[in-house]
Amino acid sequence: MTTLLLHLSDVDEAGWTERYREALPEVRVVRRDDDYDPARVDYVFVWKPTPEAFDGLSGLKAVLSLGAGVDALLKHPRLPQAPIVRFVDADLTEKMSDYVVAQVTMHQRLFTRFCRDQRARRWTQIYPPAASNTKVGIMGLGALGADAARRLLGLGFGVVGWSRTAKAIEGVTNFAGEAEFDAFLAATDILVCLLPLTPDTTGILNYEMFGKLRRKLDGGPVIVNAARGGHQREADIIKALDDGTLGAASLDVFEVEPLPAASPLWGLDNCYVTPHIAAISNIETGVRYFSAIIRAHEAGKPLPNVIDRARGY
Ligand code: NAP
Ligand code: GLV
Repeated sequence: MTTLLLHLSDVDEAGWTERYREALPEVRVVRRDDDYDPARVDYVFVWKPTPEAFDGLSGLKAVLSLGAGVDALLKHPRLPQAPIVRFVDADLTEKMSDYVVAQVTMHQRLFTRFCRDQRARRWTQIYPPAASNTKVGIMGLGALGADAARRLLGLGFGVVGWSRTAKAIEGVTNFAGEAEFDAFLAATDILVCLLPLTPDTTGILNYEMFGKLRRKLDGGPVIVNAARGGHQREADIIKALDDGTLGAASLDVFEVEPLPAASPLWGLDNCYVTPHIAAISNIETGVRYFSAIIRAHEAGKPLPNVIDRARGY
């Protein structure tokens, strides 16, 4: 009998297990404290696996990642060689685009400026630019970035994108690779980071790069990071928000999570903090997605959305 092991930290492992058992009656679904033979586990479904999570799993056909991002998983010291399938899901994508649209629209309408004026009881009629006069630069045009681009285009924003390899998304001006990075930044008023965290993208949101963004939006350029905290240098963000290099920042992810209470980011009136909730994997769609993958793979079909370990995403 095919065996699926769940190894989830910080999420409702019991809830996921119950739903998998309903969806896959032909599969033996076990949790780490159940009685099972590790050598007979075919699939392991993981989130934040502990160091011993993969010990003894010698017959694995795949590691299934509850997260869309696999950066932490790839750093696991005893990660087995089995293929890693990541979560790619319409519900997750829609929620991420909702977050991006909300933040971008708020900044385009100069929210920070008017909040400051309100607190100071100051009536200053400055006029936010039209969406069509605001350029949103999206870093990463994968499952999430491409959808956010389409949603923003539909609202009338100008959209430019940056990816590792060239992409063709109708209406999006695409820049690719390091050689075109500065040109991408120079065309961007509101920067949205939806990159995977890899050695190449670690610390990419730093003071030097903030200085290369277009300075057309009242108050200064804005960054929105909904990817990973490892992309950002928080000391640089704090400095840039203070000296006007950046007008504002919306951050859903942090170098250390939960964001420590002592972080100055909590207290800045031009920084919008959310606790890594931009797009959380949904139990219903997640179980449907991975169950279909297990079933198809057991029937001889190839695994979809397998990450490339050498590339890091
Ligand atoms: P994806 O489909 O793998 O897309 C990644 C994109 O980034 C691709 O366009 C890729 O370029 C580009 N890229 C990778 N390395 C690059 C580099 N060095 N230079 C330029 N572009 C580079 O990933 P996704 O599904 O869109 O997810 C992106 C990330 O979002 C995840 O890795 C995860 O960390 C994060 N996330 C956060 C939340 C949250 O709640 N905050 C939720 C889900 C996911 P190519 O197209 O050329 O390969
Ligand atoms: C969440 O951050 C994910 O990677 O799915």
